[in-house]
Amino acid sequence: MAKAREIKNGNGNSMEINKPYYCTECKRNHTKGKIYKEHLEFANSEDINEELINGENTESELGNEDPEIEDYDDEAEIIEAFNELEEEINSDVENFSNNDNDINNCVEAVKNLPGVGEATLNKLIKAGFNSLESIAFTPPSIIQEESGLGEKTTTKLIKVSMEKLNIGFKSAVDIWEHRKNIARVTTGSQELDDLLGGGIETGSVIEFFGEFRTGKTQIMHQLCVNVQLPREKGGLEGNALYIDTEGTFRPERIIQMAEAQDLDHNKVLKNIVFGRAYNSDHQILLIKETANLIKEKNIKIIVVDSLIGHFRSEYIGRGTLATRQQTINSHLHDLLRLCDIYPELGVVVTNQVQSKPDVFYGNPLRAAGGNVVAHGSTIRVYLRKGKGEQRIAKVVDAPHLPEGEAVFSITGNGITD
Ligand code: GTP
Ligand code: MG
Repeated sequence: MAKAREIKNGNGNSMEINKPYYCTECKRNHTKGKIYKEHLEFANSEDINEELINGENTESELGNEDPEIEDYDDEAEIIEAFNELEEEINSDVENFSNNDNDINNCVEAVKNLPGVGEATLNKLIKAGFNSLESIAFTPPSIIQEESGLGEKTTTKLIKVSMEKLNIGFKSAVDIWEHRKNIARVTTGSQELDDLLGGGIETGSVIEFFGEFRTGKTQIMHQLCVNVQLPREKGGLEGNALYIDTEGTFRPERIIQMAEAQDLDHNKVLKNIVFGRAYNSDHQILLIKETANLIKEKNIKIIVVDSLIGHFRSEYIGRGTLATRQQTINSHLHDLLRLCDIYPELGVVVTNQVQSKPDVFYGNPLRAAGGNVVAHGSTIRVYLRKGKGEQRIAKVVDAPHLPEGEAVFSITGNGITD
């Protein structure tokens, strides 16, 4: 899984922010993003300046991602720019350590479970079970399979985690309290937001299905931008995770949509964690891995575009139908479980339609994936084309929304009314 904008060091190797890498210039370990005094001299050397002036190698050995810094030729200016950069980095590091604290607290809670020694803890963390929630909400068979722990240990761990989290029968008042915390992300269209009860809600799996070019991918792009907005503007001040199964993610569109809202497109791109799924197994694996990323990267929305494309092309013929449906079902439950663990997380998936040959009256198009997908997603929205840029959305299944329709447009600036 890589950032929307891949970070490379001077040798062309990928490296992660805040992870040390070995610098071949001054022969010691560096932290990505930090500027070292030894490099000032290096930055001023003639050929590097030439490279910078020619606009080549902008992500050079300085580890500099900001193209603005290219033009500095005066040492005082460089120092000033470096100081500013350092301040920015320090605040990033502070945020990062806050997240780190969160993760440490979760791991600490797992460590304090009775019977969890160093070895068990390591196995659990390695398999991605680093919080009480992730243990409590996962079926025992999956924990056993992924972590290699025995049946007895697993059952005991789940039981104690559930007790600690107070999971069991509750009053409807408690559920109401919980649902009051559910947040919403604007789609960019007031009409579509109204149809959905105020935007895309977190804590649920929302499915957009429709024919080609009906705007499914466009809505997914828009949500990745909008989730980053401040709350008063309809966002969640969070980041997005995009699983692309069709190779249709376009950073250019993100830039257009970000600029339309006066956002710094570099920041917006940076806050989208992107994973390209090359087949259905890979897709399942990516979603399993996300459990560890959600807290660490402050992910508030997960996009899967599209949910079952790979499954449709890989499982061919009647004989494979049962296995296919079971695999899709378990994949969807991985997504639903994430929503249960993190109520402030929304999951949005797209789905294709297939034609039902035996329907003579009414709409012969049905969402692909059959009942498994229909029962798995919490809210289902059917999209169809209207005039020109217009698209029509219809809520076809939601536990708390009336069936209705909304008209929205896809423009150069993104989704609007
Ligand atoms: P499939 O993935 O093929 O099933 O389709 P989809 O539903 O994901 O369609 P998508 O979201 O890719 O929508 C494509 C449509 O969005 C195009 O036909 C255009 O009408 C519209 N669109 C995409 N980019 C732009 C843009 O920059 N400007 C405008 N005005 N429209 C755009
Ligand atoms: Mg698409």
